[in-house]
Amino acid sequence: MNHAPTIMEPIETASRDEIAALQLDRLKKTLHHAYANVAHTRAGFDAAGVHPDDLQSLDDLAKFPFTGKLDLRDTYPFGMFAVPMDDVVRIHASSGTTGKPTVVGYTQKDIDTWAGIMARSIRAAGGTRRDIIHITHGYGLFTGGLGVHYGAERVGCTVVPISGGQTERQVQLIQDFKPTMIVGTPSYVLNIVDEFERQGLDPAKSSLQRGIFGAEPWGEEMRRELETRLGIAAMDLYGLSEVIGPGVACECLESRDGPTIWEDHFYPEIIDPVTGKVLPEGEAGELVFTSLSKEALPIVRYRTRDLTRLLPPTARSFRRIGKITGRSDDMLVIRGVNVFPSQIEEFILRTPKLAPHYVLEVSRRGHMDDLAVKVEIKPEFAGEPQLVRQAAAWELQHHIKSYIGINPQVDVVDVDTIERSAGKARRVIDLRHK
Ligand code: DLL
Repeated sequence: MNHAPTIMEPIETASRDEIAALQLDRLKKTLHHAYANVAHTRAGFDAAGVHPDDLQSLDDLAKFPFTGKLDLRDTYPFGMFAVPMDDVVRIHASSGTTGKPTVVGYTQKDIDTWAGIMARSIRAAGGTRRDIIHITHGYGLFTGGLGVHYGAERVGCTVVPISGGQTERQVQLIQDFKPTMIVGTPSYVLNIVDEFERQGLDPAKSSLQRGIFGAEPWGEEMRRELETRLGIAAMDLYGLSEVIGPGVACECLESRDGPTIWEDHFYPEIIDPVTGKVLPEGEAGELVFTSLSKEALPIVRYRTRDLTRLLPPTARSFRRIGKITGRSDDMLVIRGVNVFPSQIEEFILRTPKLAPHYVLEVSRRGHMDDLAVKVEIKPEFAGEPQLVRQAAAWELQHHIKSYIGINPQVDVVDVDTIERSAGKARRVIDLRHK
């Protein structure tokens, strides 16, 4: 393993007072910048009866209105930009499952800031200029590929910008180029791991030492799966387009205890998703971010819909987020019980004969919602009698019933029957509104 000492920026080990002072200064500037240059934001502040001058302490931020995906949709495509288009050097967009995409923009300084925090993330994950980094995130309007790419170049890594898809070729190039780091969604990298095995190769014997995974929720069981099957240390990278892209927060190699938020650039709050009230530190709720240094798209109290908690600093002076347990809009309510796909995933990964390839189908019978879990058998058990599949199905059903309190139908299906994605996996098929 590569144990070169991590290069840190002074702010990463600064005192909490220094960090708070920097945040307050930057927050004031951000509010003024957005108010002066974005008509939509100014109208929102005016309607709420607040002015940027009302922010005298960090806690005063709670007086300001939230921003949501709808604000970006209503001002589609460029209405939330705070600089003239001549100063915008890049556009990204998140596809969204319905309607118009959400469009985000960057000035050259924003691109530099982003590369800086993404480089910091890669360093936190143990990356140095000696690493060869295999980037499987999609390149294009999605922020994943290009966002990670610029950070990796900033670190001085040798970048392999392979993007997603062509999984056989991914294996070939990992064998040939011998990368030491891999970046992607956990679900897609697992597809690569499967492909190694399909080709009769042992993925744990590859050159890879560390991986950075994000863009979709993944839990501790998935970490164990990736770490053991690939023989790597797996770090969690968090981010979202509206806030900047990947690199808002990243786990540190030495602690691997939840992504450290780069708090000099993003101010976090946790709110009650129903009342909108700021919750005391440590309580679980919805994550909200205010950007502190962005020019083209300053974002004030953006409601991420991601559910998690704020944790105290450990490996750096910045606070961390716990694992994202789900998105409030991903939550399924099955016969009155709240269920997140990530909870079901944990149980699938704990059932020895089942593979982590699954989809949840929700349907309605009369007024009742039904949940069906379709999950693949592991290839090594594919040839075994039907009874073995039935036993694995019962085991999973039993766990879901005892721990979550719903009784889903579980179908253990053949290898390769669940659709694979080269990016974010699609875990829920909702048949109720068809
Ligand atoms: O997914 C940015 C990104 C790219 C992050 C590559 C990490 C790596 P969006 O497409 O705008 O941006 O989707 C953002 O993805 O609100 C979360 O729901 C989810 N998400 C991102 N990272 C994580 C993570 C990118 N580490 C949305 N854990 C966010 C759980 C994540 N969910």
